[in-house]
Amino acid sequence: MSEELRALRVGVLGCGQISQAGHFEACRKAMNAELYAICDVAQDLLARVVAIHAPEKAYTDYDAMLADPDVEAVIVAIADQFHVPMALKALEAGKHVLVEKPMGVSVEECEELRDAAGASGLVVQVGTEKRFDEGIAFARDFIREEMGEMIALKAWYCDSTHRYTMTDALQPVIEASEKAMRPEGNPKADLRRYYVLGHASHLLDTTRFLGGEIEAIRTRLVEKFGAYCWFSEVAFAEGSVGHLDLTIKVRMDWHEGFQVYGEHGSVIGKTYNPWYYKPSDVECFSERDGQYHRTLGADGHFFRRQVEGFAESILDGAPMRGADAEDGLAAMRAMVAMARSAETGEAVRPSEVKGGV
Ligand SMILES: NC(=O)c1ccc[n+]([C@@H]2O[C@H](COP(=O)([O-])OP(=O)(O)OC[C@H]3O[C@@H](n4cnc5c(N)ncnc54)[C@H](O)[C@@H]3O)[C@@H](O)[C@H]2O)c1
Repeated sequence: MSEELRALRVGVLGCGQISQAGHFEACRKAMNAELYAICDVAQDLLARVVAIHAPEKAYTDYDAMLADPDVEAVIVAIADQFHVPMALKALEAGKHVLVEKPMGVSVEECEELRDAAGASGLVVQVGTEKRFDEGIAFARDFIREEMGEMIALKAWYCDSTHRYTMTDALQPVIEASEKAMRPEGNPKADLRRYYVLGHASHLLDTTRFLGGEIEAIRTRLVEKFGAYCWFSEVAFAEGSVGHLDLTIKVRMDWHEGFQVYGEHGSVIGKTYNPWYYKPSDVECFSERDGQYHRTLGADGHFFRRQVEGFAESILDGAPMRGADAEDGLAAMRAMVAMARSAETGEAVRPSEVKGGV
């Protein structure tokens, strides 16, 4: 790690739920980053959050934070509809960007951000923090280095009816404000869209992280008793098959995981609700030694590990361990393909979709 630039000076845009539960603490605990500035239009919320986290600077005006030459990088932690415009502004101001997932709300705007990222020479990372789950990273290393050819992958992400009871117990008290800036209309008015953007963004990123590029997806959506179930049949490159399960309001505990079958071994993973900060339990069976392999994964602070990885890429030029702009765009394409397929029943190729979910 560079000696002169040990701590990346980060400005966080947005003092909402995800910043309070994840990013502020992550920046403060990171070994190579600091919570230098925070920004929110809601003055009352900003004041309460400043009292807790004591950054060097606090801004109600995003342009003023971007004009601060000491801010080196921005975490864009605001509503999905604002991600791309505010990330583009940060790049124009010469700041590196960690943008929350989903990268944006349409293929075209994600392409614009991907292009701007490439032209800027700055680091753009998308906040799918599960790539920093040591269990999932262990599975990916095994798949790449030992498993040989993949034949099939199953992955499931099922949000529980009991999750708020759990997250209320696990997260800090979340401050809120009537003055918070929200996108026009009610994002929850269309729950299908809201759930795909919020949750399929994780499922599809983990699927690509472990299984590689998705060539086509055929989805069936069933809605019953207030629950939503998207079952998808996936074709990966090189003829491998996949089955993805996105179920929202499943009547049980948080239920997330994956199974991957390969030529020289197989992988089974159980992922916990992220706010437990407990890495996935992963077992990789290897034909090489006839043994199951697992990692302890003692460091379960995915959000801290994510910002540390982001800072390493900026300060030390380390290869990005998170999702880059191409990954963010690919996840957006896969989300749109899943939504289109659920409407028509036809298989849809992510490479051919346009528009939003
Ligand atoms: N990675 C994860 O697991 C995870 C979990 C939850 C949420 N998220 C994502 O995080 C993002 C933010 O979610 P949230 O629930 O914290 O949002 P939120 O709406 O609760 O908070 C956003 C805050 O940003 C402020 N804001 C918005 N635009 C602004 C601007 N231009 N200038 C100054 N302040 C501005 C608002 O006033 C608000 O206080 C969403 O995209 C969501 O999908 C990710």
